[in-house]
Amino acid sequence: MPKKVVDLTTKEILNTREAAALLKVTTQTIKNYIYSGKLNAIKTPGGHHRIRRSDLKSLGFVVDEGKTQQNLSLDELWDAYNGLMRAFVSTVEAFIKALDTRDIISAGHSSRVADMSCAVGKAFGLLERDLQELRLAGLLHDVGKIGISEAILGKPGRLTDQEFFLVKKHPEIGEKIVEDVENLKPIASIIRHHHERFDGKGYPDEIGGADIELHSRIIAVADAYDFLRSDLSFRKALSIDDSLQEIKKASGTQFDPEIVNYFVDSVKGDSLPLQ
Ligand SMILES: [Fe+2]
Repeated sequence: MPKKVVDLTTKEILNTREAAALLKVTTQTIKNYIYSGKLNAIKTPGGHHRIRRSDLKSLGFVVDEGKTQQNLSLDELWDAYNGLMRAFVSTVEAFIKALDTRDIISAGHSSRVADMSCAVGKAFGLLERDLQELRLAGLLHDVGKIGISEAILGKPGRLTDQEFFLVKKHPEIGEKIVEDVENLKPIASIIRHHHERFDGKGYPDEIGGADIELHSRIIAVADAYDFLRSDLSFRKALSIDDSLQEIKKASGTQFDPEIVNYFVDSVKGDSLPLQ
C-alpha cells in the first residue's frame, strides 16, 4: 500500500515531526521550545504533542509552501526578533518620556500604563505577541496629544467645551500617527478606542462591550487608575484603596467588569507594578 503523503502546506494541526520538517529543525528542537514555553502545544490523551500551524507563525517564522524563509535556527530567530523588538520599544519609551512632560499628569504616566496593562494582560493569559502589542499601545495611547496645544494640556482646572472638544480628538490623531508606521499598524485601532466606554458612551466611535478591542479595554482601566493616583494642580492623588474604589464603581459602565476583576486581583496578588 503506498505511503500516504501529508500536505504540510495546508495542515493546521501538526505533530512534532511535521512541525520540525516544516521549520527544517530537529524534533528535539521543537520539543525544547515546547518545554521552555516558547511554543504552545496541545497534549493528546496519549501524551503526544500537537502544534497549531498558527503558533509556529507566532514564533516569527514565515511558514509558507512547506518551507521557512529563514536559514536561521529557531533560537537565533527568536533572539533576533526579541532583540529588535526591545530596541524598538526603547526608542518608543524615549520618545514618550518627552511627550509625557507636556501633560497635567505626572511624568512616566505612559510607562506606568504600559506596565500595569501588561500585568493585567499576563493574568488574562495573553501570549507574548499580544503582550508586546499591549506594551506598545500602552506607551503610545496618548501619542495623539502631540497634536494638541500645551496651553490646553497643561491647563490647571476645568477645560472649556471647545478645549475639551480638541482634547477628545487625541485618540484619532494618535491612530493616524501610528498607522503609517509599519511595526505599529496593529495598534492603531487600539489607540483609537482607548477612551471608549463599556456602556458605549465613550469616544470617538461610541462602541461598547466586546466591540472595543480587549487591549483598549485593559488600557482604559490602567489609564484611569494612574490618573486617579496622580497629583494634579487642582487635587492631590487619591490613595490606592480610594483609587481602586473609584475603578470598581465604574465597573460595567465605564469599564469592562472582567478587566476590573483582573486588575483588582492583580493588585491583591501583588503582581501589579503600582505606584
Ligand atoms: Fe488618552
